[in-house]
Amino acid sequence: MATATYNFSNKTILITGGAGDIGRATAHRFASNGANIALLDLNTTKMAEVAIELKEYNTKIAALTCNLTGSDDVDRAFAAAIKQFGIVDYVFNNAGYQGAFAKTDEYPEDDFQKVIEINLVGAYRVLKAAARCLKQSGGGAIVNTASYAGVVSPPNMLAYGASKFAVIGMTQTAAKDLAPHKIRVNALSPALIGPGYMWTRQTELQAATQSQYFDADPKIVEQQMIASVPMRRLGSLEEVANGVAFLMSDEASYITGFNLEITGGH
Ligand SMILES: NC(=O)c1ccc[n+]([C@@H]2O[C@H](COP(=O)([O-])OP(=O)(O)OC[C@H]3O[C@@H](n4cnc5c(N)ncnc54)[C@H](O)[C@@H]3O)[C@@H](O)[C@H]2O)c1
Repeated sequence: MATATYNFSNKTILITGGAGDIGRATAHRFASNGANIALLDLNTTKMAEVAIELKEYNTKIAALTCNLTGSDDVDRAFAAAIKQFGIVDYVFNNAGYQGAFAKTDEYPEDDFQKVIEINLVGAYRVLKAAARCLKQSGGGAIVNTASYAGVVSPPNMLAYGASKFAVIGMTQTAAKDLAPHKIRVNALSPALIGPGYMWTRQTELQAATQSQYFDADPKIVEQQMIASVPMRRLGSLEEVANGVAFLMSDEASYITGFNLEITGGH
């Protein structure tokens, strides 16, 4: 697959969920195009492994442990990134949690709150810190990871779907508020992406719900899900990273408030 090369030399991108599958693939994509990378994640061990991998590109890398469920933590991590890199140009607001898989009348309240706390309130904290930071930088771009579940909610994912619909709404408001500061804000909505942690987890947990929509065998659930997208295959992590690179790049200089669906069509 031919991949567009953008010149991100001397640019810095801050990536939340930088230890996870999509964050890691995006970090590789940007570092290979010259960018300095600030990874933020709760998972210090996995993040350190990603930071070591990124050394091959000879750009500057920071790994900043951060729990999005606290404003102080988020502000501290942004301050550390600014201290290390001077300015931040791009923020990929990407960390997320899939939540429980349960029917509406059984969905656990504590998990509903956890999903909203990470995917919506956490994303709001990062968006607010990013807006302040990029204003200081004189402009930049933000990409918020939503999901195809924020466009058409799947069964058994009550909290996740709600949180991702809200991320798309938040993106539209932020795009309007931040345009005067030369900051573009877009959303990215992956659907069936893999192989990876969330793909495996969702096929196993959808199978276990015993709903009318999916088989009880996760291998058959995989086939059922793939049959629901016109391209009849998973999207790769690299294809998601390509979408982020495009939205951050100067080629997207007039694109803001947009939701890029990476779905294989629906
Ligand atoms: N993989 C998919 O199929 C898919 C599809 C649609 C949307 N998404 C979204 O893409 C984003 C990345 O997903 P992924 O596939 O890389 O999943 P992942 O589980 O591999 O990565 C998510 C990362 O977020 C981090 N994280 C979770 N809670 C956190 C918190 N409170 N503070 C800091 N970090 C936290 C985790 O430690 C993890 O490293 C998520 O927002 C997810 O909802 C993924």
